[in-house]
Amino acid sequence: MKVVAIVNQKGGVGKTTTAINLSAALAQSGIRVLLVDMDSQGHASLGLGTPVSDLPGLYEVFKGSKNLRSVVRKDVSPGVDLVPGTISLAAVEHLLANRKGRAHALRRHLAGLRKLYDCVVLDCPPALGLLSVNALRAADLAVVPVEPSLYALDGIERLLETITLLEAQYGIKPRLTMLANMYDTRTRLSREIFKALEQHDSLGLCKARIRNTVRLREAAYRGMAVVEMARSSKVADDFRALAREIGRRLDLQPSASKAEEGVKTQPSAGTPISGTPITGTIEKRHGSLCEVILSFDSALGKRVQIAGDFNNWVPDDGVDTRKGEGRLSKVLHLKPGQYEYRLVVDGDWREDPSNPKRVPNHLGGNNSLLRV
Ligand SMILES: Nc1ncnc2c1ncn2[C@@H]1O[C@H](COP(=O)(O)OP(=O)(O)OP(=O)(O)O)[C@@H](O)[C@H]1O
Ligand SMILES: [Mg+2]
Repeated sequence: MKVVAIVNQKGGVGKTTTAINLSAALAQSGIRVLLVDMDSQGHASLGLGTPVSDLPGLYEVFKGSKNLRSVVRKDVSPGVDLVPGTISLAAVEHLLANRKGRAHALRRHLAGLRKLYDCVVLDCPPALGLLSVNALRAADLAVVPVEPSLYALDGIERLLETITLLEAQYGIKPRLTMLANMYDTRTRLSREIFKALEQHDSLGLCKARIRNTVRLREAAYRGMAVVEMARSSKVADDFRALAREIGRRLDLQPSASKAEEGVKTQPSAGTPISGTPITGTIEKRHGSLCEVILSFDSALGKRVQIAGDFNNWVPDDGVDTRKGEGRLSKVLHLKPGQYEYRLVVDGDWREDPSNPKRVPNHLGGNNSLLRV
């Protein structure tokens, strides 16, 4: 199990956005991920649709009233489990202040989860207090998101000074890498600042860069990772490139059991039939591909995914999800033809209730039918 801390004492640089989307992108490649929200603002939890007001979290773990495993929320995003961050985390500094081994508490707790996860992602608060110290102590790699502001370089100098102090005080010397966030190739300022950061000798800059796009705010508002909400967007590609780069650096391997689980849940395709209706609407054509939108009532379930022979029965693979006005839409890009599919509603495989056309599958149920 490898640990990645997303850290920067500067606020609003994209720590939480990176933590959420790196976690979801790693999970898409079969890595079992635990995201730990270490910020009392609870934004990583909220950003994945988990309001945190009365949930037990890390504070209770540090206090000793809960063990880490018992506060984990399962599958808040496909393949990602979460330790929620709550307001009580603000009191952790006091709680740990006089304890022996206070910088190592998180590392000790995480050790108990070694067999359950391939990677732990820590979303740190915007301060280099004891929580971030614990994260840096536990981390195999610390990723420092930076945004192209005039204060970015100054912020990095301060971070390095603090890390030098940590080394003296706690013997902590994490591997660090910077991540260019909110990158805008069109502005000279963005290019110049990241060029200066690239030449910084004490820190490597990730090859992957995260572009500046409103889709990230939109995804946070909808309580989803952008790599899930808009899989085919460019910013989702940015995060997948980051996940691959970090995966290579830490030698992360998709866990075998996860791959088997994916195969087990896959229903098989039934016999194709003819004379079926078209459900959904065709919005646009891109060459031979049609953009097809299937729309559902949001009350159908908390998480609605779609799997069919268009995406090898991998839920939501290659599918964008849009939400708004009580509706939830699945956007598919398909060649003209006939497809069988099912919905995965909160983990349950079901027929599409809004589509009367269905065909028996060999598991004894039915698949819904879509003709484009
Ligand atoms: N690449 C990006 N493009 C556009 N907006 C972004 C990008 N990255 C982050 N944001 C937005 O910037 C805001 C701050 O991001 P985020 O919450 O991830 O930062 P943070 O470093 O975790 O903040 P804090 O220090 O308060 O924890 C959010 O509204 C987020 O949606
Ligand atoms: Mg944050």
